[in-house]
Amino acid sequence: MEVVTPSKVRVPELGRLKQLGQKIVMLTAYDYTTARVIDAAGADVILVGDSLGTVVQGQENTISVTLEEIIYHARIVARAAQRALVVADMPFMSFQLGIKEAVGAAGRLMKEAGVAAVKLEGGKRYASTVRAIVDAGIPVMGHIGLLPQSIHAMGGYRVQGKRSEEANALIEDALALQEAGAFSIVLEGIPASVAARVTAAIDIPTIGIGAGPECSGQVLVINDLMGFVHPGETHLPKFVKQYFQLTSAMTTAIKQFSEEVRNGDFPTEDHAYNTGTSKQKLSLHRGDKGRVEKT
Ligand code: KIV
Repeated sequence: MEVVTPSKVRVPELGRLKQLGQKIVMLTAYDYTTARVIDAAGADVILVGDSLGTVVQGQENTISVTLEEIIYHARIVARAAQRALVVADMPFMSFQLGIKEAVGAAGRLMKEAGVAAVKLEGGKRYASTVRAIVDAGIPVMGHIGLLPQSIHAMGGYRVQGKRSEEANALIEDALALQEAGAFSIVLEGIPASVAARVTAAIDIPTIGIGAGPECSGQVLVINDLMGFVHPGETHLPKFVKQYFQLTSAMTTAIKQFSEEVRNGDFPTEDHAYNTGTSKQKLSLHRGDKGRVEKT
């Protein structure tokens, strides 16, 4: 299958990909190096998710993440991305207090962090908020189904939309968000058959996480995909597929470094400077253009 690879992914591109039947690839990132790798590897969208709270900050859930924290990380990720569309999550209480506050917070994400779009959790209840943000010139990605910012109200991390009236409500939510001007919608933690119905009911693309294969695209948290979980984290959700075991690879490297430091095998001459010759080149600094040589 021929893959369409626009040189720069902009908001309308996602709709085009849905029309072409090409799946949208979205991953989260929170730092510069990871975002550079994801961008260069060809992902379409990089989400600076409020999963920042659990993945980077070691919090129990995403609720404590602040707008300032998302701005800080989104600015770093936006600096890194050359091709991918960068979307920033609107954290808990940055859009729930009122439409004016929501537009202000979305505006800060675009203006101060430099992202191209924002994402917010919630269905038709937030349709007028989405409309106001879109009217301010800020593209909005919706997010329905399991809403991590509402875990207390939802009674925990439970699959949503299992009952037929819940499934119908999800379709209504998706239609309301589309009507309000959202350019795509994340479907989280819903049965695959319901995600397929939602995707078929709307023109804008859906991006699934724990929502089966029929969505217009898929998103995963980068740490989950890479197997970069902390040593005590033994239970991962069913929808996660680990493509690598980064924690295990890092542990091996760190143990080897520790052993070599302790027994004197590191550093060798190869990794040390000496006073030998004034012409000696010292690699002291690394940068985008490789190492900066100082003589
Ligand atoms: O915060 C996040 O990372 C997300 C994705 C998992 C969709 O909302």
